[in-house]
Amino acid sequence: MFQNINFTTPSIIFGMDTLNQVGKQAKKLGASRVLLLTGPNVQKAGYVEKVAALLKAESIEVEVNIQGRNTPEPATHIPEAVAEVAKNMKADVIIGMGGGSVLDVAKMASALLTNPLKVRDYFGREKVPNRGIPTIMIPTTSGTGAEVTKHAIFLDEETQVKKAVASSALLPNVAIIDPLLTVSCPQVVTANAGIDALIHAVEPFVSKNANPVTDCIALKAISLMTKWLGPAFADGDDLDARYNMALGSVMAGLVLNNSGTSIVHALAYPIGGEYHVPHGPSLTCIILPCFDYIMLARQEKFALMAEAMGERIEGLTTREAAELSLIALEDLLKKLNLPTTLTHLNITDRSRVDQWAIDAHAEQRLLSRAVRKLSVDDIKIIYNNSF
Ligand SMILES: [Fe+2]
Repeated sequence: MFQNINFTTPSIIFGMDTLNQVGKQAKKLGASRVLLLTGPNVQKAGYVEKVAALLKAESIEVEVNIQGRNTPEPATHIPEAVAEVAKNMKADVIIGMGGGSVLDVAKMASALLTNPLKVRDYFGREKVPNRGIPTIMIPTTSGTGAEVTKHAIFLDEETQVKKAVASSALLPNVAIIDPLLTVSCPQVVTANAGIDALIHAVEPFVSKNANPVTDCIALKAISLMTKWLGPAFADGDDLDARYNMALGSVMAGLVLNNSGTSIVHALAYPIGGEYHVPHGPSLTCIILPCFDYIMLARQEKFALMAEAMGERIEGLTTREAAELSLIALEDLLKKLNLPTTLTHLNITDRSRVDQWAIDAHAEQRLLSRAVRKLSVDDIKIIYNNSF
């Protein structure tokens, strides 16, 4: 089989204390007025003053915009409001510093400055025609991968469903990944974001869009994060764990950006939107039945995944090794206090399954990458196996 491979990435600056490079990087992008978008916890940790000082040292003016939210995903009006702020201050670079949602808002706000329509008009694949003003992304969790992806996820307030803008125009210019920024990340966020990152490596690896470049990166990311997510969860001050999780997370982000997610994210969107469940748990409560349903199409890949997760597969059949990957995944989820069923999230209303299945089936951008063709009835089976 001959594949066409198109691999894109922002410029990546990774390592301890790399936050110190933010001023120089902004200058290189031609910044004179920066809008710095962040959240209240990052502000409390003192990083806002640090970034502002580094920018001022390069004679760059900075305006800080603190994002507070009461839903797990930002609604579509939020990046529209931020774009208005950026326009009024004549920002020439936007910096997003925070978790995935803050980074998504920063990417979308930048694009709205050079594109005429509203966020809802850009949901879907490659709908944003023009690149926005330059952006620098600084994640403080490990991680959603948002710092290296062309995706931004928002809550569509009309339908209460999470939807994605997936456009190359949103790809950030620079990603600065400083593992020290993740040390202050609370335990529950470490688990939620960490498992999202692991799924960003695993899900594309067992999808139709997998290719040899992203497979290589995915296997290393899976091995790093399976080893280090537990220690980072157990002790947030463990710098080895934070460093390796940050590395695994950005690698998973590259896999996500270039091979894309599939069935698990598609089926999680209706749950996350309707019940306002954080993104990580919305994935873990359905991932085991999802993978069980598609495993027959990619047993060898699941066996490789088990090996990358540190499981012994010598002497096992491919099927036995493949099954081991799900056993290892379930064990990890339980040790991180993450839900492995809908019931764990107190979601018990089976009458909602029909509507979720219709909504998930509409996510053909993601489902077209699934290795098993999924009808609405197939999706109902998976949801029913998730209670
Ligand atoms: Fe995700």
